[in-house]
Amino acid sequence: MESMGGLKRTHHCNALGASHAGQEVTLMGWVLRRRDHGGVIFIDLRDRWGVTQVVFNPEHNPATHAKAHDLRSEWVLAVRGTVSLRPAGMANDNLRTGAIEVMVSDLRILNTSPTPPFPLDEESEVSENLRLKYRYLDLRRPSISRNLVMRHLASQAVRSYLNEHDFLEIETPVLTKSTPEGARDYLVPSRVNTGKFYALPQSPQIFKQLLMVAGMDRYYQIVKCFRDEDLRADRQPEFTQIDLELSFVDEEDIYRLGEGLVSRLFRETLGVEVPTPLARMTYAEAMSRFGNDKPDTRFGLELVNLTEIVRGCGFTVFASVVKGGGLVKAINAKGCSELSRKNIDDLTEYVAQFGAKGLAWVKVKADGEWQSPIAKFFTGEEREGMARAMNAEPGDLLFFVADTPVVVHQALSELRLQLGRTLNLLDPQAFNFLWITDFPLLEYNADERRYTAVHHPFTAPNEDDLDKLESAPGEVRSRAYDLVLNGTEIGGGSLRIHQQPVQARVFSALGISQEEANDKFGFLLQALEMGAPPHGGMAFGLDRLMMILTGSESIRDVIAFPKTQKATCPLTDAPSAVGRKQLTELHLRPDWKE
Ligand code: AMO
Ligand code: AMP
Repeated sequence: MESMGGLKRTHHCNALGASHAGQEVTLMGWVLRRRDHGGVIFIDLRDRWGVTQVVFNPEHNPATHAKAHDLRSEWVLAVRGTVSLRPAGMANDNLRTGAIEVMVSDLRILNTSPTPPFPLDEESEVSENLRLKYRYLDLRRPSISRNLVMRHLASQAVRSYLNEHDFLEIETPVLTKSTPEGARDYLVPSRVNTGKFYALPQSPQIFKQLLMVAGMDRYYQIVKCFRDEDLRADRQPEFTQIDLELSFVDEEDIYRLGEGLVSRLFRETLGVEVPTPLARMTYAEAMSRFGNDKPDTRFGLELVNLTEIVRGCGFTVFASVVKGGGLVKAINAKGCSELSRKNIDDLTEYVAQFGAKGLAWVKVKADGEWQSPIAKFFTGEEREGMARAMNAEPGDLLFFVADTPVVVHQALSELRLQLGRTLNLLDPQAFNFLWITDFPLLEYNADERRYTAVHHPFTAPNEDDLDKLESAPGEVRSRAYDLVLNGTEIGGGSLRIHQQPVQARVFSALGISQEEANDKFGFLLQALEMGAPPHGGMAFGLDRLMMILTGSESIRDVIAFPKTQKATCPLTDAPSAVGRKQLTELHLRPDWKE
């Protein structure tokens, strides 16, 4: 192995083209591929920017050529040579540097490598665990490194946009007290304070509010948040928020700012113009039409409420659900009457995961007649009423679920998405943004037998509903909003309570005693009493945004060193066991066996 020995890189591996022909250049990078064409050796040299073909010709330089015989994948090289146009017909139009090659006169082998545990070309399918274990190799692959480049551009776009709008970037603590976002906390034991724990922040929520009390007026931070939750394709235990808070604003100010931010971001990363203002929909409408609060509006297949039409019908499943206060809703899968019994059975099984006790169906035949196991239970009038409500036409397939509102909405919204996926209705080029507004402030938690905050306990109630806070807490709307993109919640926030008496009433509605409130958030309550300005804000999930911007299937593909679904890091092997001494220092006395 050799040193760079005074060689200085003149270009990166995506820089050279026909205009450089004849120039002497020095490139450094990794061996992507080596081809030995009966004498002449071709190496594709790769770095972060791209690939350049470098050539070792035995006739030009026998010593260098002999050395090139040893080169293997992922060795690290410095090469000096002359840029030369490729012979006629040999240009590679798929490569930025495809018009040229570098005829090497000097080769330095800067480092070697064993055969990588998986091939680094783009075609090979590799298990994710292996990729994450050797993430530094995986990141050499353009399909992943491209995402990090895009993420960098996105962060820069966010910073410059917010800087232009008078925001201050301020850091908040990572070792802190439990925050109220509602997931489980990651705890850190304190060595110097026996038996006490810090919590890693689920978000900087309380600190950013304190910064408003401090008169900072506009705060932002691109910040790590930590939540010990069950992981899914779009969830990580540590993830990044673009977190902001503003003083003396209302919802409209925040919508405008958020819209400016996503427009800038899409323009500077993808070159896509996002038309603003963005669409809005109330929570109630989203639930009614789509069955969830983050509807993917790239396609239709909306939910239709048939409850009134089937009240008192002859199909006892439906009639009894309605009698019990439940709902009957349906989706018209347009033109899908050709789906087989097996397809329908699969879908029935699919919705069962979400609690549906069945999935009734109707195929609309060419003459408009219903082919269905349940057709016989309905009068002609009922059938007509349903068909009209669903705009049912020959060739359609209708799906029905009867249950409690929660189950009906869960099952049908998942069925809708499943149909959207299988019928290829999700246009990958479309970016459908949607603000969801007027969330309920509180929801009843049957397990805990009390109301909990839908957003967090500092969210301001809608003033029009304030008098219901004690009498009908479930009906109070909040001043919270989410931003949804193609069915993913990419951000959320609210106007906050800035007056202590209102905060006290909300705590009381949440069943949080004065004592408990003081213990948990006393410092915030005190701050609210000391001249807190009206304020509000939001946080965008940067990882989720990047997932959509890059068209990635998994949130892990946009994070340099992500965790697995089981919250582990195959690269470092975290979390890992620690010795008894360390635990003792932290005053922890585990009762498990080492
Ligand atoms: P919220 O809890 O809605 O709000 O979080 C804001 C956004 O962060 C993203 N997000 C996640 N991304 C990846 N993995 C996770 N585990 C995860 N959890 C959340 C989502 C979400 O919309 N403090 C409030 C914001 C505010 O009120 O200003 C908050 O944290 O995209
Ligand atoms: P059954 O009378 O139980 O054989 O059901 C007749 C049809 O109604 C079957 O296709 C079931 O999948 C469907 N079904 C049963 N319960 C429900 C329900 N709660 N909601 C919608 N469809 C149901």
